[in-house]
Formats: sequence, C-alpha cells, structure tokens
Amino acid sequence: MTKSYKSAQYESLIKQARAVMEGEPDELANQANIVALLHRTFEFWWTGFYRVVGDELVLGPFQGPVACTRIGHGKGVCGSAWKRKETIVVPNVHQFEGHIACSAESCSEIVVPVIKNGEVTHVLDIDSSTYNTFDHEDKTYLEELVNLI
Ligand code: SME
Repeated sequence: MTKSYKSAQYESLIKQARAVMEGEPDELANQANIVALLHRTFEFWWTGFYRVVGDELVLGPFQGPVACTRIGHGKGVCGSAWKRKETIVVPNVHQFEGHIACSAESCSEIVVPVIKNGEVTHVLDIDSSTYNTFDHEDKTYLEELVNLI
C-alpha cells in the first residue's frame, strides 16, 4: 500500500522529535518542541499540552491563540480524554456535547492523553480550523509521538 503524504509527514516529524529530545530529560522543554514541530508542519489552528494538576488540567506549552487556562476532569474534549484515558477524535466540535470553545475558529479537534504508570499526566490537544481534519492515522502517530516524551 502506498503511504499517504500525511503519514510521510508524521514519520519525518517523529524522526525530528527523537533527534531534538535525545539526551534531554526536561519534559517541559520536550513538550514545547513537540508543539512547535506539529504546529509548523501541519499549520494547525491551535496545538498544545495541558497538564494534570490535582483535579484540573492546567494550560502548558502551546502555539496559537490564547486558550482557556483550566479544564475540569471530564469537562470538554480534553477533560473527557483524561477521564476516559483514551484519544478522542472530534470531526465537528459543534456536535461534541460539552465542547469548550476557546476559539470560534476551531472546527475539529483531537486530544491524546499522555499516560505514565496507568495515570494521565498530560493531554495533547490539537484544534483545526477545518472540519474532519483528524482520523485514525493522526491518532496512531500522535500516540507514538507523545510516548517519546
Ligand atoms: N476545546 C477544548 C478546550 C481547549 S482549547 O481547544 C485549546 C475542549 O473542549 O476540551
């Protein structure tokens, strides 16, 4: 089967991420670079991490417009991915019950939890300004990417 252009982009990005994180133990620095790589490669609307602090998600490194700072457990797409401990792909954010609209431009979204020792420590949230941006391919590569941190 011929590889899609998107999968070639992800494979190249994962190579760059490995190189940039090699020998670097600082999680925050690594997250910041991953965000930059993703945001620049795919020109997403918003790309960033939220980290689990107590019973909330708190905004971490991101690129894109100003975003909400805190999200409760089970709230919005981010809080739901945290609660379910699984990636959520949202083709149309207007059809996701409880979606938190940080920006009116956001049309579709993917949230990938970072799981360490069975617990969610962060979520990677990506918003697109077009509908149906994310699919199983994004899910697979993004899960691989966050596991490198
Ligand atoms: N839309 C997210 C909130 C975070 S912003 O998109 C950056 C949600 O529903 O959890």
